[in-house]
Amino acid sequence: MSSFFVAGGNLAPDAPCYVLRQADDALRAALQAREFSYVLDTRQVGKSSLMVRAAAQLRRDQVRVAILDLTGVGQNVSPEQWYSGLLAQLGAAIELEDALEDFCDSHPQLGPAQRFFAAIRDVALAAAPSPLTLFVDEIDAVRSLPFPTDEFFAGVRACYNRRSDDPELKRLTICLLGSATPDSLVRDARVTPFNIGQRIVPTDFTLLEARPLAEGFGDGGMHAIERILYWTDGHPYLTQRLCQAVAEVGHCDNGSVDRAVARLFFHESAREEETNLSFVQRRVLEGGDDVTALLDLYRRARRREIKEEPGSPLGAILKLSGIVRSVRGQLRVRNRIYARVFDEAWINRSIPDGERRRQRAAFLRGLLPTATVGLVGLAATGLLTFRSINAEKEATRSLNEVRRREQQWKQALEELANERASHSSADATLRQLAEDRLKFAQEENLELRQRLGIAPETDLRLR
Ligand SMILES: Nc1ncnc2c1ncn2[C@@H]1O[C@H](COP(=O)(O)OP(=O)(O)OP(=O)(O)O)[C@@H](O)[C@H]1O
Ligand SMILES: [Mg+2]
Repeated sequence: MSSFFVAGGNLAPDAPCYVLRQADDALRAALQAREFSYVLDTRQVGKSSLMVRAAAQLRRDQVRVAILDLTGVGQNVSPEQWYSGLLAQLGAAIELEDALEDFCDSHPQLGPAQRFFAAIRDVALAAAPSPLTLFVDEIDAVRSLPFPTDEFFAGVRACYNRRSDDPELKRLTICLLGSATPDSLVRDARVTPFNIGQRIVPTDFTLLEARPLAEGFGDGGMHAIERILYWTDGHPYLTQRLCQAVAEVGHCDNGSVDRAVARLFFHESAREEETNLSFVQRRVLEGGDDVTALLDLYRRARRREIKEEPGSPLGAILKLSGIVRSVRGQLRVRNRIYARVFDEAWINRSIPDGERRRQRAAFLRGLLPTATVGLVGLAATGLLTFRSINAEKEATRSLNEVRRREQQWKQALEELANERASHSSADATLRQLAEDRLKFAQEENLELRQRLGIAPETDLRLR
């Protein structure tokens, strides 16, 4: 095993393979401004690693920090036990176990939620003049509790709303992290804190961001990273897992990366055995009441037919599974690994049996009138038109894809040019690479336009 890369679990804040991205800056800024913030996203995209790093930074800035992990409090508990469990974690983190316990013992008249927030205000904050930041990780665990937890979220919101009356609360910052949508966490929209907070989105790594990972390979590292990102599109866990496998083999060429991808992700039982793939599969197939509608939405995202509808519950479930993401207002398959693993055949196999029979019957019913007309010539013409329309659609789609790549590489070059003078050899290789790829994409663009009979200067809308 290569010790440089880490695949799975929180990264240490000083891990050399830690990739800094925009979300790190955004979270740090929100916490420094003492705003309520939250990171709600799919699994294994670095939520906890982001938190651990931000916590280390805050401690260096003399802020007291407590990380409460809801999986550590248990599920089969009463409200009393749950809030006490949280206070126990808080007490251990800031060395106030006894004081918090005494406070609880002396306030039996308060309900558990009220006592929890009062203890934070009157004991944890009052114990020292420094600010206090509470991170609550694995927040989705509240959904498995046997009692409603709206009170908890209402309490978080109240900590912010009451700041004008109670300035002490300005020293308290709360950040919630987990894998859920805000709506699935809070039933009563009037008490949700999520509409007063900063949402932090841990996006997948860009090639520029992923540069530190090249160090784990020695020579040819940037080329390996480029090919790895071709497959993972920067998904944090998949990228680290693939880096690890390639580093183990010791060759960085495209063929070695492709073979590692196949070995890790494309074998028969990978969907069940590989941690990330099995999670995605489970979330899609068990994620909602209507699996068929979910799979249908995914099928249309694969075909790039989906404009994102803000607030669509199915779209939210699909995004939370990690299988798709938003790209300029459209739902797209997240990366080439998922596109290959969760392909059309997988969709067809996964549609529940009864529904598959119903769809086949509807399809046959639709075909029947054409067959009974018996106009073979007409059918043949129809088929030809269908084929050429499809070919044109396909070509336009390819052109849009090429244009997207062109824009990406242009942006990469601009970002490199804007970065303060760094002259490392990794940067030089990257610049050369970006220039090559941009040239290649421009040539492809021209060639496709010629084939489609579109003038070079005509601008097509990205679809
Ligand atoms: N900033 C990062 N730089 C490099 N790799 C990362 C980064 N963040 C996450 N990873 C990779 O993703 C893996 C999972 O990270 P982490 O546990 O922080 O994610 P998570 O979103 O909290 O996951 P879960 O939802 O399972 O709690 C890490 O072990 C590492 O391989
Ligand atoms: Mg986590």
